[in-house]
Amino acid sequence: MDVRERIAELKALIQKYNQAYYDRDEPMISDAQWDALYHELVELETAYPEYITPDSPTQKVGGSTSQAFAKVKHMHPMLSLSNAFNAEDLKAFDERIKKEAPQATYVLEPKVDGIAASVRYENGTLTLGVTRGDGTTGEDVTHNIKTIKKLPHTLKEPLTLEVRGEVYLAKKQFQAINESRENAGEKLFKNPRNAAAGTMRQLDAELAKKRGLDIVLYSLGSVEDLRGLSHIQTLEKMKDLGLPSQAFATHHDSIESVIKGVQHFEENRHQFPFEIDGAVIKVNERTLYDDIGYTAKSPKWAIAYKFKAEEVETEVKDVLFSVGRTGQITPVAHLAPVMVAGTMVSKATLHNEDYLKEKDIHVHDQVLIKKAGDIIPEVIRVLKDKRPPHAQAVHFPTHCPVCERPLHQEPGEADWFCVNVTCEAQVKEKMEHFVSRNAMNIETFGEKLVALLFNEKLIHALPDIYRLKDHKDRLLSLEGFGEKSVDTLLANIEASKANPLEDLLFGLGIRHVGKTSSKTLAQAFKTLDALKAATVEDLVAVRDVGEVMAHTIVDFFKAPDNIALIEELRALGLRFDTDIQASTYHEKFTDKTFVITGTLSEPRSAIKTQIESLGGKVTGSVSQKTDVVLAGSEAGSKKDKAESLGITVIDEATYLTWIGATDEQ
Ligand code: IVH
Repeated sequence: MDVRERIAELKALIQKYNQAYYDRDEPMISDAQWDALYHELVELETAYPEYITPDSPTQKVGGSTSQAFAKVKHMHPMLSLSNAFNAEDLKAFDERIKKEAPQATYVLEPKVDGIAASVRYENGTLTLGVTRGDGTTGEDVTHNIKTIKKLPHTLKEPLTLEVRGEVYLAKKQFQAINESRENAGEKLFKNPRNAAAGTMRQLDAELAKKRGLDIVLYSLGSVEDLRGLSHIQTLEKMKDLGLPSQAFATHHDSIESVIKGVQHFEENRHQFPFEIDGAVIKVNERTLYDDIGYTAKSPKWAIAYKFKAEEVETEVKDVLFSVGRTGQITPVAHLAPVMVAGTMVSKATLHNEDYLKEKDIHVHDQVLIKKAGDIIPEVIRVLKDKRPPHAQAVHFPTHCPVCERPLHQEPGEADWFCVNVTCEAQVKEKMEHFVSRNAMNIETFGEKLVALLFNEKLIHALPDIYRLKDHKDRLLSLEGFGEKSVDTLLANIEASKANPLEDLLFGLGIRHVGKTSSKTLAQAFKTLDALKAATVEDLVAVRDVGEVMAHTIVDFFKAPDNIALIEELRALGLRFDTDIQASTYHEKFTDKTFVITGTLSEPRSAIKTQIESLGGKVTGSVSQKTDVVLAGSEAGSKKDKAESLGITVIDEATYLTWIGATDEQ
């Protein structure tokens, strides 16, 4: 399984487990298991930001609800809005409204790009702040909400009410945060929305306070006395109570006037102190809301107008080719720096040769760029009519830009590779990977040190890391190094020799072998020598190992350079085996479809998880595809149906012996 597939799998799993947790109130896995999956996804996305998609649970609050926070069911679901993309859509919205409510007028507000939240006051005192979560249930983030300066802890009247709005970070605040993160060598936030989301999920309110969250409120929950107010009046009322309600709201009598207002917002979107990604149009008369009605997901009396993804023109200064850890060559457009959707962009990946040809990018071309999913810079197209006479066509290199050896392409594939395993660019990348946290986890060894040691010619290949102890004097002479830091570094390197096989396997950077696969392989083969001796057939017999991975593993252990590398590492004293317990592979479960019915001594969800962890699948209804029905007491029609179909039916006692057999294996 490659990184992209694993990321997709993790996203799907986390979504599935979130749904079980929130929608059905029936957790399928433990908090620790959930945290491990989420953590793995964050790690992969940090290492491969090109694979981050907006729907990832790490990118949005909905679905990323950590089990570290208490969950709170909303009194009324927090709905979303349907979207409009042009004036036609808004006119159609107006027609729909006017059919139900000819007297309706509209309120237009900017759509602030932050994180939706609900805040509760009881008898005038702020008691609860909750994220939107999945719309039905959110996370209790009262501690962070309370740090928002603009939000009073006490209302001017002792009312009990719920207000809703958007928590955000002002653009200036966001820039200041990123500047200080940069100075501290920390990873930068991609945009204000992510920074706000990350801040809301902090357990430590002090940190949220430092970051300076802000909020704008756009609705007031049902309070008996205030039912008759129009939307504009509720915004006024909130203000009177001391609440930061939407200050940019305007009232319009017609959709034509709304459309002008929307255009005005779009033209001036960068003048707002916060990021806006659209406008929201709502019927002003709240008494009409029930008549106009709701769909399952959104009210029909409001609509969100989405601004077009921002497209910015800039010049391609150069196209350079980078060499990745696997030797893959990636063309990268170096651009004249421009602000796009709130951040400075100076590079955009051009992926591979096909993409480069398709876009037909020349150096000195003017290009339109945008941020895909508001995160990753992407070239939309070349402005061919602006191509200057001195523009230069870009040709994909035939030789590695670093080691100058000929490049290699597999038939039918778009990517080119430098296959020289001693290529300095690759070795550096490989080394960074080898020492990184998920691999050999050699603390204080990072990208900068790798570059420095290469420059000093202290390391050329992976095994040199373990020979650094013979060069202590030279290390001590390096700038910024003292007795203590050199000792720490050397101790960390020595300690890593005892890391289990799975760390080493992942560290070796075999194509398609990620952290999870490394664990699976270590578990299945126990020693590096056993894995080295495995055939493609042996490998595909292991759960989750496919043909592609099996072939790359066999190829890896065939290459003389890799064998030499492994022998060097062995001689240096690295550990080649694992602590992972016996394989949980079990013929009774692996790839078998189970149906659970009747009353059992444990919750069904727990048994389901257990069966899945042993390689089985659990479905809800009995069919020809069912292999086993686990029938507890008072099992009904499912058991009967299974028996009539000749499917194996087992009781709980038998199930427990099956599980027991697994433990003895
Ligand atoms: S009204 C029933 N007004 O946009 C939903 N939403 O899908 C009522 N948003 O998650 C939402 N600015 O958090 C409303 N002025 C505004 C808004 C706004 C931002 C967000 C909101 C929601 C999303 C709409």
